[in-house]
Amino acid sequence: MQGLKDKRILITGASSGIGAGMARVLAREGCRLVLHYNRNQAGIERTLQAVEALGAQAKVIRCDFKQLNQLTEFFNQAWSFFEGLDGLVNNAGIVTKSTSLKDAEGQQFADTLAVNLQAPYQLSTAFAQACIQAKQPGAIVNNSSIHGQATCEWFSAYAASKMGLDAITKVQAVEWGQHGIRVNGLAPGVVPVERTDKILNEASMAEKWRERMPAGRYGTTEEMGEATAYLLSDATLWMTGSILTIDGGLIARGNYPVR
Ligand SMILES: NC(=O)c1ccc[n+]([C@@H]2O[C@H](COP(=O)([O-])OP(=O)(O)OC[C@H]3O[C@@H](n4cnc5c(N)ncnc54)[C@H](OP(=O)(O)O)[C@@H]3O)[C@@H](O)[C@H]2O)c1
Repeated sequence: MQGLKDKRILITGASSGIGAGMARVLAREGCRLVLHYNRNQAGIERTLQAVEALGAQAKVIRCDFKQLNQLTEFFNQAWSFFEGLDGLVNNAGIVTKSTSLKDAEGQQFADTLAVNLQAPYQLSTAFAQACIQAKQPGAIVNNSSIHGQATCEWFSAYAASKMGLDAITKVQAVEWGQHGIRVNGLAPGVVPVERTDKILNEASMAEKWRERMPAGRYGTTEEMGEATAYLLSDATLWMTGSILTIDGGLIARGNYPVR
């Protein structure tokens, strides 16, 4: 894809799943990568090995996004590795499955919003400030979810975080367009990752999902990487404030019964 060669991109949550897929695709496109993780050291080492095998330069950095007061130092270090960044992918997230009644004090709610919404808000703001000071353009991709658009029981915290993320994607795009900073969102459907392997690959569950998706299959982490590369590339220079839904048609289909 045009405009990605040598671009310096920070990907949060690159130790597994979609973030690792994004890293492999961006490495293949010639980007230099700053790969973030929190607890999964073995995972980030696997991602690092994979991207280096593809010829990419990469650095690894750790931070727990529940510790919001550590984000400034984290961002400054990430910015310094390659003397700046051209892109930020806010991918790290926790999928909290909890009903409101089981989380009456809202602790899970608060933690989910910290990692999935407050951290991207602060990181994007730090990135925009640094780009403005350096008088350079920048591109941000916020990895949201179809739960930003339609949701179900169990997901009050998760859906609130992703609907909020879609909101700041739009507001920050509007605020920073004048500085050449683009902000777009990605809304993946169902993508099996290590975390979900057991549930999604169970035959009856896989069948239920398949029949709801016009494309007839789950997505892959590589496909999410391709979409991210597109949003960071010169192909989308006029695109900002948009949320790209990539879900095999799941949301478009809705829940209508058919005869
Ligand atoms: N898989 C799907 O079907 C799907 C669909 C829609 C949206 N998404 C979104 O895709 C993103 C990645 O999820 P995934 O499915 O690929 O799951 P995953 O493999 O569990 O990846 C989650 C990533 O977030 C990081 N993370 C978790 N808690 C963190 C914290 N407190 N501080 C900093 N980083 C933290 C993890 O780091 P460590 O493991 O190193 O701690 C890991 O790298 C999430 O934002 C999720 O909402 C996924």
